Amino acid sequence: MKLFDVYPLYDISPVVAKGSVITDEKGQEYLDLYGGHAVISIGHNHPHYSSALKDQLDKISFYSNAVQNPVQKAYAKKLGAISGCDDYQLFLCNSGAEANENAIKLASFISGKSKLIAFRNSFHGRTSAAVAATDNPAIQAPINRGHEVLFLDFEDEKSLETALQTEAYCGVIIESIQGVGGLDQPSTSFFKCIERLCHKHGALLIADEVQTGFGRSGHFFGFQHHGVVPDLIPMAKGMGNGFPIGGLLVHPKYKGNHGQLGTTFGGNHLACRAGLAVLEVIETEGLVKKAAEMETYVRSKMASLPADIRLKGRGLMLGLSFPFEVGNLRKELLYSHHIFTGAAKDKKVLRILPALNIEKEHIDQFFEALKEALKTLKS
Ligand SMILES: Cc1ncc(COP(=O)(O)O)c(C=O)c1O
Repeated sequence: MKLFDVYPLYDISPVVAKGSVITDEKGQEYLDLYGGHAVISIGHNHPHYSSALKDQLDKISFYSNAVQNPVQKAYAKKLGAISGCDDYQLFLCNSGAEANENAIKLASFISGKSKLIAFRNSFHGRTSAAVAATDNPAIQAPINRGHEVLFLDFEDEKSLETALQTEAYCGVIIESIQGVGGLDQPSTSFFKCIERLCHKHGALLIADEVQTGFGRSGHFFGFQHHGVVPDLIPMAKGMGNGFPIGGLLVHPKYKGNHGQLGTTFGGNHLACRAGLAVLEVIETEGLVKKAAEMETYVRSKMASLPADIRLKGRGLMLGLSFPFEVGNLRKELLYSHHIFTGAAKDKKVLRILPALNIEKEHIDQFFEALKEALKTLKS
């Protein structure tokens, strides 16, 4: 059987990974500054994570959400304790798109309304409502276009107010730092304006933390930089360090009712144990603080680059913005210097999304390689 050909693939086959280093089948090592789309939070195959998963596999890996699941409860307790959102309620699922799909659905259930506001350059996933809220018509099939989504620019308070005044919108979905879009961020005053207008007009504020969550921005959640209180918080990526797990945090003022949301696999024993191990490592290694400190280090290294290269983002969710498109630069970094980086919708942005416990030496290695690669491309 052939694989359905939807991914352009590098000719690299990783077989082993440890911390921030990936080794391919030929024994070539690569520095992973991308974490497979911002997924690797605590480093590849962290020993605590690997042994927790092995231990859980020997006990029970799956049963459905029809029974009591103590691992799920332990996960919720730990997440509450270290996220700053202890009073929220947790619904578990399997991916970022699914977390957003459930958030949008719940916003619509709660408000009784069907329109949604999203932002230009947003990315919220590839399922139906999530992809409709994604500012990329190329990945929306005709069936997805039935959703009524209004795309606004960050900071456009006037259009936001005009739309919400119609009282027809169930919610506003926003990334506190746009990942796929290219690391743009709303201001705190705009975030607060969204919060105020949502409250006034019966819409729910959905903070998409799928990429920004779990310490990546230097706070546990990205919205925490802005002092707002979202109604719904979808999350995934760094949550499982590669094990498929997603979730939705629901503000305490909303009560669930049986059958409203559901999933077969979501919140299974193995996924929760993976998630729990991630939280334990984030806590014991102080990774939220480390991400913030490493941002400072990266900023200090920027001084060694030409002044027209700008750093965007926060924590270890960063993008280097160049005065030219970065496709060839990324190839040079990958094939000549063996460093994985990421692209963005903004073709001039090179994304770096390393594990939160990346070492300073790895950052040094990246900057040296980058300077060499820029020289090579110039000559
Ligand atoms: C902000 C954001 N939301 C949602 C998603 C979708 O997540 P998934 O690919 O797990 O469905 C992504 C993926 O890149 C994302 O960056």
